[in-house]
Amino acid sequence: MKILVTGVSSGFGRAIARALAQDGHEVYGTIRKDVEPIAGVTYVRADVTDDDQVKAAFDHVMELTGGVLDVFINNAGMGIGGPLEFCKTEDVQNQMDVNFMGMVRWMGGVICTMRRQGYGKIICISSIGGLMGLPYQGAYSASKFAIEGYCEALRLELRKSGVQVIVVEPGDFSTGFTAVRKSVEISEAAAAYPSYEKSLRGIEHDERNGLKPEYLAARICKIIAKKHPSSSYVVASPLQLLAVFAKWLLPAPLFQKILSLYYGV
Ligand SMILES: NC(=O)c1ccc[n+]([C@@H]2O[C@H](COP(=O)([O-])OP(=O)(O)OC[C@H]3O[C@@H](n4cnc5c(N)ncnc54)[C@H](OP(=O)(O)O)[C@@H]3O)[C@@H](O)[C@H]2O)c1
Repeated sequence: MKILVTGVSSGFGRAIARALAQDGHEVYGTIRKDVEPIAGVTYVRADVTDDDQVKAAFDHVMELTGGVLDVFINNAGMGIGGPLEFCKTEDVQNQMDVNFMGMVRWMGGVICTMRRQGYGKIICISSIGGLMGLPYQGAYSASKFAIEGYCEALRLELRKSGVQVIVVEPGDFSTGFTAVRKSVEISEAAAAYPSYEKSLRGIEHDERNGLKPEYLAARICKIIAKKHPSSSYVVASPLQLLAVFAKWLLPAPLFQKILSLYYGV
């Protein structure tokens, strides 16, 4: 299959691109800077916040594949952390620009190509944070909720087209994500929100000790091979899976109480 993955320089994207290439797929991966090659993966330059770069990268991939795209995996993303009161408007804008608009910029070309083909899989990496608002990761959660809403609507629009829209919601994984998270100044925010610093350390600890990206990559390979995949997959530790079920099952005040105890807020 001909597959385009965004953000393959590290973490999930790198593991996914490598696993798909090892499975024999023709893989194209976007990067922003020079990185070690991955056998069987063709790199294409694109910053997902740049309309022109995304368009040029997509057109280039289409030239290389003869206009065919079987699978698009929207993976590129990053996180900003901190109490929402202290998140600067431009940082939240940037968060949405990378995670949400950075997906949207590909979609015109991807959807049009797949709709005309009459088949294709669009796989978007969301997060458990896209299913529940996480304290001190509110801007990040908002960007992932946006992906969830977009994909839910897109799935309906493409219902009769043969194009499948799948959202993957990972829990905490050990990737480059933690190191590049942009968090607001601790001192000022911690004075107003005493639980912030401890909570942030807890979040970072959970991520650093989380599952390995290869685990998610193996799940993506299986999803791609499925004729009738589900519309969403939560890929997470048993405790995080339980949290997702609890959100569905429990009354909102009770679920909020549990989440606030976990995060110490
Ligand atoms: N790790 C987790 O626990 C976790 C959990 C749930 C969801 N996710 C999601 O998984 C996805 C991948 O994250 P990761 O954990 O693998 O983190 P990562 O190791 O930091 O990888 C992020 C990738 O996105 C790329 N990227 C970031 N900003 C970009 C931009 N403006 N233009 C183009 N590419 C850009 C990065 O490229 P550069 O190297 O050039 O920065 C990198 O390739 C993200 O959408 C994230 O929200 C992660």
